[in-house]
Amino acid sequence: MNEKEIKTALREIPLGGFRFYQQIGSTNDTALAWATEGAPDHSLVVADEQLTGRGRAGNTWYTPPGAALALSLILRPSTEERNQVSLFTALGALAVCKALKEYGLPAEIKWPNDVLIQGKKVAGVLVETVWMGIEIESLILGIGLNVLKTAVPTADKLSFEATSLEHALNHPVDRIDLIPVLIRHLIEYRSILGSETFLLEWQQALAFSGHTVLVWGEKQTPTTGKIVGLGSDGRLVLETKQGELVEVHFGEVHLRPANH
Ligand code: BTN
Repeated sequence: MNEKEIKTALREIPLGGFRFYQQIGSTNDTALAWATEGAPDHSLVVADEQLTGRGRAGNTWYTPPGAALALSLILRPSTEERNQVSLFTALGALAVCKALKEYGLPAEIKWPNDVLIQGKKVAGVLVETVWMGIEIESLILGIGLNVLKTAVPTADKLSFEATSLEHALNHPVDRIDLIPVLIRHLIEYRSILGSETFLLEWQQALAFSGHTVLVWGEKQTPTTGKIVGLGSDGRLVLETKQGELVEVHFGEVHLRPANH
C-alpha cells in the first residue's frame, strides 16, 4: 500500500486533505496534531503500520505492516453535530458494517464501538476530541480493521475473540479497494447522524440483541440485563431480571454476553 495507490482509489471522495504514513505511532495522534494545526474538515490520515496504536480504555491496538486498515478522519463538527458527539462512535461502526456488507459479510455492532463478524471482533472505533475553550473544535474518528489474518493479535493478547476479513471470506482482501468504500459510508452516515434511519440501522445492527449481557465501566455500575434496544439518543437499553429498564451510559463501557 502506498500513497499514490490510495490517492488514486480516493480520487472521487471529497476529502479536505490526505496524509499517508508507511509507519506511524498512531493515526489518531497524528490526526489530533493536524487538527490542532487547522486541518480542514474530512482530512484523512492513513498508515500501513502503527507502532503505538491506541484502543479504548487505554488499550493498545495492534497494527502490523501490510495487514490492517488504520485510519483517522478529522471532522469539524457543526453546531448540531456538537450536540451529538456521542453518536460518532456508532457512525464509525455503522460505516464499517455497511462496507463489510458490500463484501457479502453480515457484521454486527457490539455497543458502543466494536464491529463483530460471527461474534468475533473485526474492527474497533476510537473517537477523540480537540477542544477550543468549552467547545469541541474537531473530532478524530479512528478506525482499525483487521483485513488479513496476520492483523489479528495472538489469543493471549485479546480480551475478546477477534477475526479478520480474510478469515471470514476465506480469501485475502485488498485494502486499497476497501478504503474508498469505508470513507464513502462514513460521509453518508454523517449526513444522517442521529436521524430515525441512523438509529434504526444502528438498532438493527446491534449484536446480542434480545440476549443477556453484562455491562460495566467508569461511570456504569456492573449491570446484567437483556438488550432490548436503543434509547432515542442511542443509549443502550437493558431489561434486568426484575423487569426494570436501565439505560447504559456512554463512555468507557465494556459489554460481554452474560455466559462468556
Ligand atoms: C477499540 O476497539 O478499542 C478501538 C480501536 C481503534 C483503533 C484505531 S486504528 C486507527 C486509529 N489510530 C489509533 O491509534 N487508534 C485508532
